[in-house]
Amino acid sequence: MRIAILGAGNVGGGLGRAFGAAGHDVLFGVRDPESTKTLAALADIPDAVAAAPAAAVEGADVVVFALRPVAIAATVAELPSMAGRIVIDAMNRFDAEVTAQSTTQDLARLLPGAKLAKAFNTIGFENLRSAAVRSIPAAMFVAGDDEDAKRVAMDLAAQIGFQPEDAGGMANTKALEEMVKVWMALAQTHGRTVAFAISDG
Ligand SMILES: NC(=O)c1ccc[n+]([C@@H]2O[C@H](COP(=O)([O-])OP(=O)(O)OC[C@H]3O[C@@H](n4cnc5c(N)ncnc54)[C@H](OP(=O)(O)O)[C@@H]3O)[C@@H](O)[C@H]2O)c1
Repeated sequence: MRIAILGAGNVGGGLGRAFGAAGHDVLFGVRDPESTKTLAALADIPDAVAAAPAAAVEGADVVVFALRPVAIAATVAELPSMAGRIVIDAMNRFDAEVTAQSTTQDLARLLPGAKLAKAFNTIGFENLRSAAVRSIPAAMFVAGDDEDAKRVAMDLAAQIGFQPEDAGGMANTKALEEMVKVWMALAQTHGRTVAFAISDG
């Protein structure tokens, strides 16, 4: 698949590396293709390219948001219509930016008709390097109302070493952001490679 990742920081770069290793074409959509973060992300992924957001999403099968939330509005303003396109939101909103709405619900409002799922937000970015070699698979929670987008997000999560888990509809996307607060508390004890896992036996 051709995957456009908006943002090339810890999460965007980590997802790009993992998706590239899984055989996907990776394009970063960034405000500065020459920034230190962008160049570091590109250095790790053969054949990946960086461009302005509108160019990166052109022809992409999947668009992943991995931005700081403060950048959402300005980045969306540069994009063509995302109606009918699969969009995965990996973002979280914290501190003074906290609202009752998740970033995924913001995207639903800003990108009418987009096929949205939230995923890749309940881990530390360090897990993107180690997912495939963990002794107990890390769960990757995926939420949203669009079944196609959820299936794509769950397939991608499995391809890069996570155990995908259907975490419910769009109404649960804020709950996935809240889970990160629990993850951060756990990371104080266990370190940043700690991850949620499912025990169903
Ligand atoms: N860190 C984690 O472990 C983790 C895990 C899961 C989810 N998340 C969530 O994922 C998102 C990204 O986190 P991150 O750790 O990858 O952050 P990061 O390393 O700071 O990267 C953020 C990206 O957003 C871009 N950006 C920031 N401000 C911008 C602006 N005003 N306009 C345009 N682009 C802007 C940056 O571009 P420049 O390079 O040009 O600054 C960079 O590409 C956040 O919502 C975070 O909560 C983080």
